[in-house]
Amino acid sequence: MSAEQPSALLSAQRTDIATAVAQPNIALIKYWGKKDERLFLPRTDSLSMTLDIFPTTTRVRLAPGAGQDRVTFNGEPATGDAERRITAFLQLVRERSGRGERARVDTENTVPTGAGLASSASGFAALAVAAAAAYGLGLDARGLSRLARRGSGSASRSIFDGFAVWHAGHTGGTPEEADLSSYAEPVPAVDLDPALVVAVVSSAPKEVSSREAMRRTMDTSPLYEPWAVSSRADLTDMRAALGRGDLPAVGEIAERNALGMHATMLAARPAVRYLSPASLGVLDSVLQLRREGVPAYATMDAGPNVKVLCPRPDAERVAEALRAVAPVGSVHIAGPGRGARLVAGECR
Ligand code: DP6
Repeated sequence: MSAEQPSALLSAQRTDIATAVAQPNIALIKYWGKKDERLFLPRTDSLSMTLDIFPTTTRVRLAPGAGQDRVTFNGEPATGDAERRITAFLQLVRERSGRGERARVDTENTVPTGAGLASSASGFAALAVAAAAAYGLGLDARGLSRLARRGSGSASRSIFDGFAVWHAGHTGGTPEEADLSSYAEPVPAVDLDPALVVAVVSSAPKEVSSREAMRRTMDTSPLYEPWAVSSRADLTDMRAALGRGDLPAVGEIAERNALGMHATMLAARPAVRYLSPASLGVLDSVLQLRREGVPAYATMDAGPNVKVLCPRPDAERVAEALRAVAPVGSVHIAGPGRGARLVAGECR
């Protein structure tokens, strides 16, 4: 959400019903590891690009008199961990608003079925914006980012258009002070026309959740601390590359940061390995593209899918090369997208 958007104004009024839209973001400097799990305070700063594809739309409607929250995903009742996380999040919003009503939450996700892309960033960004408006929290964009963080860390960045940096904050002082210190904000980028080409390699559910994998990596990997230290230098270099509009440098830094993060997991005990032979096939194809003069660079998250950053005019060529890698399922071209926002006309 850009500073100009009247988010504070909209969410300051009690509306009882509100609908918000948010898109996923892909980290170019990764968030991996929490220094405070309860408050979702990350160990390191991270930086991402919000995408213009796969929006999540979430409607929150207060249900006075209802005994519990009711949550649906694409029309189906939510269950298990997903339901627990959303109910816990609504509880936090209730505590902050001083209101006790339970809510009905309906979420529509447009990530193609089986795309295997995480939707917690767009999901909690949309939920934070809709719930803040419905319960009348009166938050500005920074407040919404801090709130979204409490649902899923990476959601703090999907509040903003385009490139955003998420500050790790500090754990000193009171929990309130610590909570206030960690939020995302926009990062200026000069003359960049990037595309992010998403190669879907597998849609199988993860064997190890990213939450558990982060914990294990921080607790046991001898490579974790060195990566955290080098990630700080990567962030400084990344900001400079964005500031001068140097897309190849942005790609190079993003690729080294992501490979470093995966190295920390491979050194965890027991190891966490998200990359599959097909992911490595995509990485080979990215190297080949570079040999052919295309400035394409890869990044990977807690799964085998690979996202390739390149200049927008090269996106089709990159997509074609990735489609040729077996067994890549589908390929999607994204650009920088808008941050989370209320859907006009849906609030009363
Ligand atoms: C590898 O935000 O999904 O995508 O805060 O535990 O919900 P929780 O984790 P989540 O982790 C994302 C990790 C990552 C890197 C990134 O997006 O920065």
